[in-house]
Amino acid sequence: MSLKEPKIIDGKALSNELVQSLIPDIKTIIDEIGRPPALAVILVGEDSPSQIYVRNKINKTLEVGMISVEHRLSSETKEKSLLNLIVELNKNSEVDGILVQLPLPKHINEHSIIQAISPEKDVDGFNIINAGKLATGQSNLVPCTPLGCLLLLRHTLGDLTGLHAVIIGRSNIVGKPLAQLLLAENASVTIVHSKTKNISQITTQADILIAAVGQAELVKPDWIKPGACIIDVGINRIITAEKGKDKPQLVGDVNFSEVAQKAGFITPVPGGVGPMTISCLLRNTVVAAARRNGVEIKIK
Ligand code: GUN
Repeated sequence: MSLKEPKIIDGKALSNELVQSLIPDIKTIIDEIGRPPALAVILVGEDSPSQIYVRNKINKTLEVGMISVEHRLSSETKEKSLLNLIVELNKNSEVDGILVQLPLPKHINEHSIIQAISPEKDVDGFNIINAGKLATGQSNLVPCTPLGCLLLLRHTLGDLTGLHAVIIGRSNIVGKPLAQLLLAENASVTIVHSKTKNISQITTQADILIAAVGQAELVKPDWIKPGACIIDVGINRIITAEKGKDKPQLVGDVNFSEVAQKAGFITPVPGGVGPMTISCLLRNTVVAAARRNGVEIKIK
């Protein structure tokens, strides 16, 4: 294994650039409709990673000068009450985007909740209307984490035409929509998952390898092609002997220190895909606000 310097992809810097690029469009929206874009965030229950993600999303929304409408509901909330809240937010003309943080408590049907969100306010892009538009190449609201991965890849590699992208993980939130986005960029895409045989035989052919399975440090150096571009979507909390159980350490789905020696480019955890996801959520909220109110903006 060579000991060359790994080229670490700075997701924080790119996400700051993306946020800055939204500011002129937010100003245009304020000028035209008399208020900034507004994002409603709903959190049900006390799942602690979700609380952190929601806090970060709300803080960033406010930092960029948009309106945050917060709904924190108890874990006992009935599905019907959550549906009623979504109906109310769909009707509210002062709300442009609606995000229900996942996972939801087990007694609530996630699919029904996602479907209840009006497609034009579905800033997560999870609704089947938006998923179908993505699959058929129509303009839509695109899921935030896959969009963040795509922007990191374009920034790092430029044109993706003809590159082989292998995605580890087939979730509706990341793996499947990311495959659609990369196909639209003319990449060749393979998805592998927990039932795939001889995974490393496939991943070693990847020019671009994206890990999105939620298994700490699953991807080792012998899974990758030398010089490949590695995007790590995983955020796993592990207990280490040095830090103890009160201070879990964050690691990705890739063994960063070992894989970085062999990769051409690699995203760190934290500071890679995570900040891009939040910036893409802000972007989607600006896009939703502009489309709903017939305002012309620069970003598409
Ligand atoms: N939980 C984990 N990732 C996401 C996301 O992108 N959106 C929502 N709403 N919940 C999540």
